[in-house]
Amino acid sequence: MKLADNKATLSFSNGAPSVELPVYQGTVGPDVIDIRKLYGQSGMFTYDPGFLSTAACQSAITYIDGDKGELLYRGYPIEQLANNCNFLETCYLLLNGELPNAQEKAAFEARVNQHTMVHDQMQYFLRGFRRDAHPMAVLTGLVGALSAFYHDSTDVHNAEHREIAAIRLIAKMPTLVAMAYKYGVGQPFMYPQNDLSYAGNFMRMMFGNPCEEYKVNPVVERALDRIFILHADHEQNASTSTVRLCGSSGTNPFAAISAGVACLWGPAHGGANEACLNMLEHIQANGGIAKVGEFMEQVKDKSSGVKLMGFGHRVYKNYDPRAKLMQETCNEILAELGLENDPLFALAKKLEKIALEDDYFVQRKLYPNVDFYSGIVQRAIGIPVNLFTGIFALARTVGWIAQLNEQMGDPEYKIGRPRQLFTGAATRNVK
Ligand code: ACO
Repeated sequence: MKLADNKATLSFSNGAPSVELPVYQGTVGPDVIDIRKLYGQSGMFTYDPGFLSTAACQSAITYIDGDKGELLYRGYPIEQLANNCNFLETCYLLLNGELPNAQEKAAFEARVNQHTMVHDQMQYFLRGFRRDAHPMAVLTGLVGALSAFYHDSTDVHNAEHREIAAIRLIAKMPTLVAMAYKYGVGQPFMYPQNDLSYAGNFMRMMFGNPCEEYKVNPVVERALDRIFILHADHEQNASTSTVRLCGSSGTNPFAAISAGVACLWGPAHGGANEACLNMLEHIQANGGIAKVGEFMEQVKDKSSGVKLMGFGHRVYKNYDPRAKLMQETCNEILAELGLENDPLFALAKKLEKIALEDDYFVQRKLYPNVDFYSGIVQRAIGIPVNLFTGIFALARTVGWIAQLNEQMGDPEYKIGRPRQLFTGAATRNVK
């Protein structure tokens, strides 16, 4: 880490000696004050629930400028990657730091393709679930269970194990997500077909059946690939931090990624796409566009507990660049499928317009996030609402594993162990 020119000094009003703290500089973005020795020097901890001002690690993978609405993977703007690269190239970039040349790209694709099948015993494990189980419940179990099947890549301290675990996870997630879906609808599992693209193969495993040949629609394939790119990584969000914290104990990569899947499920995070579509359907069923004003009043009334799902973000205080790209994809896919007049899309656009002009949202800098339009695209493609977060998990797996591997290779890494401000009973005796 690069030391900045200045230092921070922390002084106390009670006359306790002040503490000098080093400041480090990143490539871009805010500097950080190094408080690692603070406790030793002052006997005090810092207090920052929700990590509003705390950097928990150094990372060279993804950078967000929330005020500008900018997202970079390894320095490349998300718009350029979404328009010029495919998902597997993006995976290579996130994992290795550089975009692949033609040879590297072919070799990486071939490597991922070699690992698309899952151990056949996985399907018996899957069959233990109820058919109506939520796919995220199933996926949390299945991803964790991978560690019971691939014993030769579970040592997170071994760089080779981490690398093969990364390839396995990227390759097998589409297979597992599609299996979770097929199981729920009672259709036979489809084995992967490796001459298809990553997205095309996933579409066939989802929507194909053994009785007919499946033809991949290239517009849908491209839309799905773009969804994967847009969700691939997002620096130290809740699920990624979960993966890092879980992995910091030295647990195996599959277990750490399943912790990420579990965290992603929540509606404040990856579950927002499902919650957003349910919200749109609810408004549509209760009067549609005519009732948007009423719904927005509820959102602004804190006592209602209603939130505009797909809006707001901890980091973005401007338009989420992924939401713009997703809206573009939404237009393309609805046109391709003849769904231009989709009432939910019209409703979403109306909600967005009202929100962007309303003082409540303007003052709080609340803008659409990636989940606002992704549900409409996924629904149009034929993905069931309860699988939306599973698609997010599939795409985010590369980010999780890239971040976990970065952490395990970082000489400064330590097991994550937050402190607390204790407010319970002091020592007392049982009478
Ligand atoms: N609808 C209505 N009000 C909102 C919304 C929303 N979607 N989001 C934030 N606010 C309000 C809060 O009530 C708060 O108001 P206050 O200052 O009067 O108390 C203010 O805006 C700031 O919001 P916080 O909740 O403090 O912001 P935080 O950074 O903690 O939360 C979060 C961010 C969780 C994303 C929040 O905006 C939210 O719940 N959004 C809806 C869920 C969602 O879309 N999540 C997906 C995030 S993107 C992703 O994970 C892929």
